[in-house]
Amino acid sequence: MHVLVTGGAGFIGAHACVALAARGHRVSIVDNFANSCRGVLPRLALLTGSAVDCRCLDIRDRAALAELFASTRFDAVIHFAALKAVGESCERPLEYFDNNICGTVSLLQAMSAAGVRRLVFSSSATVYGTPEAVPVREDARLDVTNPYGRTKLVNEQLVDDLCRFDPAFAVANLRYFNPVGAHPSGLIGEDPGGIPNNLMPYVCQVAAGRRACLRVFGGDYPTIDGTGVRDYIHVVDLARAHVDALEYLMDTGRPLTVNLGTGRGISVLELLRAFEYASGRQIPHEIVHRRPGDVAEVYADPSLAARVLGWKAELGLDAMCRDAWHWQSLNPDGYLSRTRPGQRVAASARPPVTAGADAVLRGG
Ligand code: NAD
Ligand code: UFG
Repeated sequence: MHVLVTGGAGFIGAHACVALAARGHRVSIVDNFANSCRGVLPRLALLTGSAVDCRCLDIRDRAALAELFASTRFDAVIHFAALKAVGESCERPLEYFDNNICGTVSLLQAMSAAGVRRLVFSSSATVYGTPEAVPVREDARLDVTNPYGRTKLVNEQLVDDLCRFDPAFAVANLRYFNPVGAHPSGLIGEDPGGIPNNLMPYVCQVAAGRRACLRVFGGDYPTIDGTGVRDYIHVVDLARAHVDALEYLMDTGRPLTVNLGTGRGISVLELLRAFEYASGRQIPHEIVHRRPGDVAEVYADPSLAARVLGWKAELGLDAMCRDAWHWQSLNPDGYLSRTRPGQRVAASARPPVTAGADAVLRGG
């Protein structure tokens, strides 16, 4: 298949490109580099074995998307492109509605016009809000608590309606729990700009000495040790699920909504201990007040994905911490080179496919 990956330069998208290539699929990326950088491309070339076709394009640019779909025949789309910071979404809800909802509508219009009707959509466990019970099943009550979550829920509802009223469409909504880790090569990983919002990248930066101390948000939750419990999933496992979902859509033409998690809840302190073991470093931390909006405990019932897709998470917490730390220690400043919005990815910027990993990691 030739698969268009929106947001393919981002954390999860880049890993999905590698997983797609490993299963023999051809990949094209569109990304506006709002939260990623061009430095990922040479690394992707190295991991996939060929230069990556990437266009710097905002998915809300209908004309540019139409031109792309007219010039290239895609079999399917995986749609990662979105803004994803919960706190920022509370400060700038309209920006999130525009980017994440209007962006999806624009993409669906381009797909429909071109007759491309298979889509895998990045949804999130955030659609469950504060779950009534754990583990969370897909038929749990949906209840969002912030504008980012709203965009995920609205997108799910839009694509569900589209599949219902135009049965030629088939969409898989994949509800991720907490993606962490990195590719074991250390070539690609999470590269947050500024102060990380999420636990694992923050822990990595404390271990690397870039930040002094982790603040553990809340030590008085009704959980195993008082700290928040989440279902961390290795990004490599998550990436593989996208290929499974895509192949399922192509085989069956049936829409699908599934949780992607391990089914195991891990507390903040458990993650810290596993990270200290994997990195051999102490993580200074202090327990502070709860973070507004956080819930005590969320983890998935992943059995539907196992039944329908034959997918199961294989990598545990140790591998998540080991690979996150490997990425962090090899790339203390992430991918380094960042593009400006609107800048095109020139063919000359594409990577030499013969470059060795060492050269690429040195910035070659
Ligand atoms: P990311 O920010 O690393 O990747 C998203 C990519 O989309 C970035 O490269 C960004 O530049 C691009 N993008 C954003 N808006 C765009 C637009 N209008 N046009 C073109 N490109 C655009 O995020 P990620 O962690 O890789 O997340 C990927 C998807 O998974 C997102 O939809 C996110 O909401 C969802 N998700 C992420 C998590 C998580 O914890 N990382 C959890 C659940 C769901
Ligand atoms: N935490 C800390 N200190 C930090 C950061 C986080 O103690 O500096 C704690 C949180 O309180 C929580 C746990 O670590 O208990 C995980 O927090 P994250 O911010 O890493 O992840 P969340 O579960 O809050 O949210 C993430 C994404 C959301 C997504 C959700 C479900 O950020 O976008 O997972 O997929 F919706």
